[in-house]
Amino acid sequence: MNPDALARAEALIATIPDFPEPGILFRDISPLLADAAGLRTIAMAMAEPFVGRFDVVAGVEARGFLLAGALAVASGAGLAPIRKAGKLPRPAGSVSYDLEYGSATIEMSDDLPAGTRVLLVDDVLATGGTLRAGQQLLEQLGYEITGTAVLMELAALGGQRVCGPVHSVFTV
Ligand code: PRP
Repeated sequence: MNPDALARAEALIATIPDFPEPGILFRDISPLLADAAGLRTIAMAMAEPFVGRFDVVAGVEARGFLLAGALAVASGAGLAPIRKAGKLPRPAGSVSYDLEYGSATIEMSDDLPAGTRVLLVDDVLATGGTLRAGQQLLEQLGYEITGTAVLMELAALGGQRVCGPVHSVFTV
């Protein structure tokens, strides 16, 4: 991946202090998503190590959906949404987990054939609780996880120890 294109994409991510709570540095990827070249660059960079090894991209609600859609189209793969609890009419699996702030449950339908090769993606790897839960959910439903990728890893929070190895395009 072109380092200049990656540096340009990274510069489009805004860092907002004290959101959603005091002391939290929020990484706002909206300006990057709004930039056509930046969006294409990061979609390709997230998928790069796994090219040819996945049939479907699974994204975690909500910001993971945005990246999963871009990766799926850029890679010629399908898309599977991993949703927060209570949104699906026929959830086939469910996993609860802790967040950096709060807790959550994720659910998924079993629309994919057993053994489907899945690339799991999200925007940010922080404590790793969300992606670990996503991995457990995909395993629960009998899918094969061939990779886990994020746009940005917050290295100090140790997420790689919880759900690694995770491919991250940017590390802060
Ligand atoms: C954020 C982010 C990741 C998760 C990372 O999600 O989008 O999914 O936290 O944190 P972790 O590694 O500590 O689990 P959030 O629940 O805030 O949801 P959103 O995408 O709906 O904004």
